[in-house]
Amino acid sequence: MSVDTRVDLGGIALRNPVLTASGTFGYGTEFAPFLDLRRLGGFVAKSLTLEPRFGNRPPRIAEAPSGMLNAISLENVGVEAFVREKLPAIPDGVTVVASVFETEIERYAELCKRLSGVPRVAGIEVNASCPHVKSGGIEFGQDPAVLRALVRAARRAASGPLLVKLSPNVTDIAEMARVCEGEGADGLTLINAVQALEVDPETRRPLLSNVLGGLSGPAIRPIALRMVFQAARAVKIPICGVGGIDGAEDAVKFLLCGATAVQVGTRNYLDPAAAGSVADGIAAYAERHGFPRVADLVGALELPEAPAR
Ligand SMILES: Cc1cc2nc3c(=O)[nH]c(=O)nc-3n(C[C@H](O)[C@H](O)[C@H](O)COP(=O)(O)O)c2cc1C
Repeated sequence: MSVDTRVDLGGIALRNPVLTASGTFGYGTEFAPFLDLRRLGGFVAKSLTLEPRFGNRPPRIAEAPSGMLNAISLENVGVEAFVREKLPAIPDGVTVVASVFETEIERYAELCKRLSGVPRVAGIEVNASCPHVKSGGIEFGQDPAVLRALVRAARRAASGPLLVKLSPNVTDIAEMARVCEGEGADGLTLINAVQALEVDPETRRPLLSNVLGGLSGPAIRPIALRMVFQAARAVKIPICGVGGIDGAEDAVKFLLCGATAVQVGTRNYLDPAAAGSVADGIAAYAERHGFPRVADLVGALELPEAPAR
């Protein structure tokens, strides 16, 4: 049996359901020596701002149990350099999703407008986990009203497929998912890193210069699975699951919980070819379990009669 690995992520046609996560795969070309990028369903580039930006000062990454903390923040080449220099360097046949983040809604919308219709950009992922200046630093994705306004503006500005990447730092992920669907998002990505803090007791200082950071890696996988599960039951638009995927079995878990596609993040730092192995492993799993199409795995979780809430 040869398995059909193709999936449709909100209008983005993927040859298989595995992408790499924003901020963990540079602009793609950095990983080309280790992995044929055409083995991927696609990759999400580092989040872009209107102007080039430097991130936080070091230390801005630290080890954590079963994962890592990061507070890289806004560092990126800016949208112009991305379109002019980074995109043309990506090999033909690789599906590219551009990620955007800004500090104000109008600036997000401007980014979406600039990236719409750009050849090679198959879709835009709005990173809604950035602090909103006008809301006193609270993340866009933490307040349903702010998220609604953001997605509305991005939807108006973007002509192609629009994914919204949700923050896990919320009480009710299903509500946030419904807000995005209601405003016309084509799909959701979840989750971004979980807000966290680590401390060095000897120096009595936080490990990161930014004090707070985002926890990623296997430590957050059960949280991500739970949120994908809840969001998938709340909306009809497709979901891209991300958080702590180390191998194909982890990715399959996300598909079973309702994700149409997945992203590999922190694992890329340990094994730059990991996402390719995950893609192969999903197909092998589907074949072993008698699923002719990988898409048939989506939401195929067997639930007990009366699931606990
Ligand atoms: C060093 C680092 C930088 C990141 N930068 C971004 C970013 O620019 N935009 C974004 O949406 N997510 C960013 N993320 C979050 C990841 O895309 C992903 O959502 C998160 O790490 C959870 O997945 P993982 O556990 O597989 O890494 C970053 C994560 C890490 C570790």
